[in-house]
Amino acid sequence: MEQGIDKILLTEEQIQTRIRELGAVLTAEYADKNPVIVGVLKGVVVFYADMIRQIKAPCQIDFMWISSYKGTVSSGMTIRQDISADIRGRHVLILEDIYDTGNSLTFTVEHLLAKEPASVKICTLLDKPERRKPGITLQADYVGFTIPNEFVVGYGLDYNEQYRNLPYVGILKPEVYEK
Ligand code: IMP
Ligand code: MG
Repeated sequence: MEQGIDKILLTEEQIQTRIRELGAVLTAEYADKNPVIVGVLKGVVVFYADMIRQIKAPCQIDFMWISSYKGTVSSGMTIRQDISADIRGRHVLILEDIYDTGNSLTFTVEHLLAKEPASVKICTLLDKPERRKPGITLQADYVGFTIPNEFVVGYGLDYNEQYRNLPYVGILKPEVYEK
């Protein structure tokens, strides 16, 4: 196993099996809706590429790049790159790597809803419900795996921009981030 990884939480095979299952559901849901599938960068890239190939229906792809900033009174999100499609009246499916505190997804959904799409749904590979910030009521419509409150890396997810290229989702050894 790669250095710094304590154990594998989700193997390549488990992830691919679940993506095929989600693909069947999403194919039925979006069969004649020609959705705009919006990926939230950067963590989603690996999941995105695998997921869209299991959605066997016409669709358009787009990306949004957001990051968090720490202001003087509160922390918030900022858009580093917006989507390029005009989504007014369109069906939008957001793909996300992980639904953690809920800050990013809440921000993303509000930002996209302001563009007046016909619908916005969320598909997240991972959901860590124990970490949700109080007051966040948004629900993901499709969840790959509900996971415990552990810091995970791989399959797109990073620690200090490392580990994104691992083909599985692993739990990071605490000594890596406690250093
Ligand atoms: P949020 O807290 O729901 O806003 O999630 C913000 C972002 O934090 C996610 O999109 C991930 O990029 C990152 N994140 C949250 N939990 C983890 C984790 O366990 N490993 C790696 N990145 C994470
Ligand atoms: Mg992310």
